[in-house]
Amino acid sequence: MKRYFILLIIVRFSLQLSAQEWVVAPADAALKSPFAFTDSTRKAGEAIYVANCKSCHGDPGKNNAIQLVPIPPDAASVKMQANTDGAMHYKLIQGRGPMPSFKNTLSSTDLWRVISFMRGYNPKYVQEVALPTIAGAAAQNVSIKLDWNKASGQVEASLTSLKGQVSQPVAGAEVKLFAKRYFGNLPVDEARKSDAAGKVAFNFPKDLPGDSIGNVQLIVKLTDEVAYGEASAEATLAVGVPTNRPALTAPRAMWGVLAKAPIWLIFAYLLAVLTAWGFIAYVISQIKAIYRAGSKEQL
Ligand code: HEC
Repeated sequence: MKRYFILLIIVRFSLQLSAQEWVVAPADAALKSPFAFTDSTRKAGEAIYVANCKSCHGDPGKNNAIQLVPIPPDAASVKMQANTDGAMHYKLIQGRGPMPSFKNTLSSTDLWRVISFMRGYNPKYVQEVALPTIAGAAAQNVSIKLDWNKASGQVEASLTSLKGQVSQPVAGAEVKLFAKRYFGNLPVDEARKSDAAGKVAFNFPKDLPGDSIGNVQLIVKLTDEVAYGEASAEATLAVGVPTNRPALTAPRAMWGVLAKAPIWLIFAYLLAVLTAWGFIAYVISQIKAIYRAGSKEQL
């Protein structure tokens, strides 16, 4: 029995040892940040770290991580800093065991920012920035303009980037169009790539409801944040079908006034209110009864 127990312990620990290898494919490990790490990226990264990482990893250099299995390595530790930037990025996207995946919660730009913050605790670190792709090089500081082409019925976006003092079109960048709704953004049309003149035309549905004069709030976003950085634009264009939507609190909304409420609703409501008050009255009467019984006892 004892022997089995010892064997079990050995197996348990060897499993843990083998689990400590976190293999990152060479291509992932070689990934580099598309932008240089500066004081401002470190500062932005610090806020992200405090909000998302500190609860487990603790303060960098203080070795005060939460005691999980395995223990989250300190951001300033040799173990953490031995990662290439790409390996950190990969591990942040993948997660493992208690380490959550940040694939859907942090943008790629935010991931690089938090990496830049952690690198601030490594005096030997020298950053290698990704060689920008041809499109990417032209496309730093992308700005987008949105317009409505009445003749074609399309919404057009034009992408330009500032290179030095010259603004030039951004070709071959993928963009998505959304309409702002009450709950989240509604994708409109498919993702499209800009042409040589930096223009993208989205087919706009003819039946999308707008506000009372047909205004729809539109958002365009570049999809490839790694190559281009974050860029988006918003515009309010009269491209929708004019729709009068009563405010939910307006008197003419469904049950906003008594006269419009169905009779069953009034009864159900009254019944619920009376039951609640009846219960409270019952509890009070019982407390009184206890009090009375108590004072009789004393006599
Ligand atoms: C719920 C706790 C938790 C949170 C939150 C968390 N981590 Fe981790 N992290 C861990 C644990 C545990 C490990 C060790 C995982 C392993 O080795 O299997 C780890 C491992 C890592 C590694 C790999 C270290 C190595 O061994 O190479 C990196 C990089 C990392 N975390 C960064 C972050 C960053 C940056 C954040 C915030 C954006 C974060 N973690 C948030 C628990 C957490």
